[in-house]
Amino acid sequence: MERVTSKEECRQALSQARREHKTIALVPTMGALHEGHLSLVRAACKRADYTVVSIFVNPTQFGEGEDFGAYPRDIVHDLELLAAEGVDLLFTPTTDVMYGRDSQVTVDPGPLAMRWEGEVRPGHFNGVATVVAKLMNIVRPDVAFFGEKDFQQLRIVEQMSRDLDLCVNIVPCPIIRERDGVAMSSRNAYLSPEERFQALALCEALEVAAAALAWGERSADAIVALMAAEVAKRPLAELDYAALVDSVTLEPVQTVDMPVRAILAARVGTTRLIDNAALVPPVK
Ligand code: PAF
Repeated sequence: MERVTSKEECRQALSQARREHKTIALVPTMGALHEGHLSLVRAACKRADYTVVSIFVNPTQFGEGEDFGAYPRDIVHDLELLAAEGVDLLFTPTTDVMYGRDSQVTVDPGPLAMRWEGEVRPGHFNGVATVVAKLMNIVRPDVAFFGEKDFQQLRIVEQMSRDLDLCVNIVPCPIIRERDGVAMSSRNAYLSPEERFQALALCEALEVAAAALAWGERSADAIVALMAAEVAKRPLAELDYAALVDSVTLEPVQTVDMPVRAILAARVGTTRLIDNAALVPPVK
């Protein structure tokens, strides 16, 4: 695996692959890699001839008082993991390389970014959309892989690729869970053992939602109330939001009469976690 840190080196490294008409995949990450990231990398290596992974903890997607400084970083371990997966190119730019000194233009991700995470973390998705657009312009991949764990981010990236004619096929990859059901996330590293246990609140709320749907409940309000009650059983977990949304528009639905997405965010101790699941009503 070749590692490059500048945009020029990255473009240069890719030129040979492009000359050979290889399919190029991009897996953008912020490092501190876990099995969730590796599942994206494996999907990319399987699908494309040449796989690029980027590791960049993007400051513009962290708000004031968020965990940019504390965000887990472990480049040595990340390098070992990626080399073992057969990644072709690792791009690890610094903030200076990525943004230069007088960067001014950003991407406005539009209505999809207004609600949910966008409401709680103003500017977050502008930062995400901007850095993903930049990475796509640097790497110019044919395909890019994003986890469903960050479902709103995935939808925004899909929309951006289409609306800005980036010509990148966005491949969604399923959430990877720990054995007990907690969704894998770099932020799980912040949890104390007791908080880690109480983080089960999120996936349990999703299980309750699926069970309610299976019993015949179709009212979104009723299902959301059950999700909130499930989270409330864990004293260290404080619900930010829970909702059933249209999987494309991310707008709340009233009735579950077609497949929807159950989404929620909760603070467990001082750590904010998100999770989601597809809810598919049984055929009558
Ligand atoms: O999901 C992430 O790790 C980040 O938001 C991304 C897509 C790498 C952009 O910085």
